[in-house]
Amino acid sequence: MKLLMVCLGNICRSPLAEGIMQHLADGQGLDWQVDSAGTGSWHVGEGPDRRSVRAARNHGIDISRQVCRQFRRKDFRDFDHIFVMDKYNFSDVLAMAPDEEAAAKVKLLLGDREVPDPYYDDSQFEPVFVLIELGCKEIVKQLSPDS
Ligand code: 4NP
Repeated sequence: MKLLMVCLGNICRSPLAEGIMQHLADGQGLDWQVDSAGTGSWHVGEGPDRRSVRAARNHGIDISRQVCRQFRRKDFRDFDHIFVMDKYNFSDVLAMAPDEEAAAKVKLLLGDREVPDPYYDDSQFEPVFVLIELGCKEIVKQLSPDS
C-alpha cells in the first residue's frame, strides 16, 4: 500500500509524518511505502527543516535524507491514501483531484482536527511530533490487515 503525507512546505510536518508512518509500518512488518509532498514549491529540493530532523531524531527516527517535492496530480494515481495536515492543504489538494475517486483518497491525518504549522514557533515541533504520531498510530490501526 502506498501512502502520501501532504503539508504546505514539505519541510516541517509532512516529513515527520512520512518518517513516523514508515517507522510504524516497518515495525509492524507492513509492506507500506510512505512518501510526502508539499502543496507549495518554495523548498523543492531541500532537506527537511532542522527542527523537524531534531524532533524525529529525539524519537529515534532519521528523516534527514528526505528531499522536498511538490504535490502533483499524478499522485492521485500513484497513492492509495493521501493524508493532509490542515484544512488549507485539504482544499488545495482537493482542488487538483481529477474525479471523485481521487477526491475520496484525501483525508485529514487527524480525522477531524488539524496539525498546526510549527514553522514560526520552535517550541511547537515536539508537540507536533506527538500529534502526528497519534494520527499515524490510529491510521495503522484502521488500515492494517489484522485490525
Ligand atoms: P510545513 O511548514 O507546511 O509543515 O512544511 C511550512 C514550512 C515552510 C513554509 C510554510 C509552512 N513557508 O512558507 O516557507
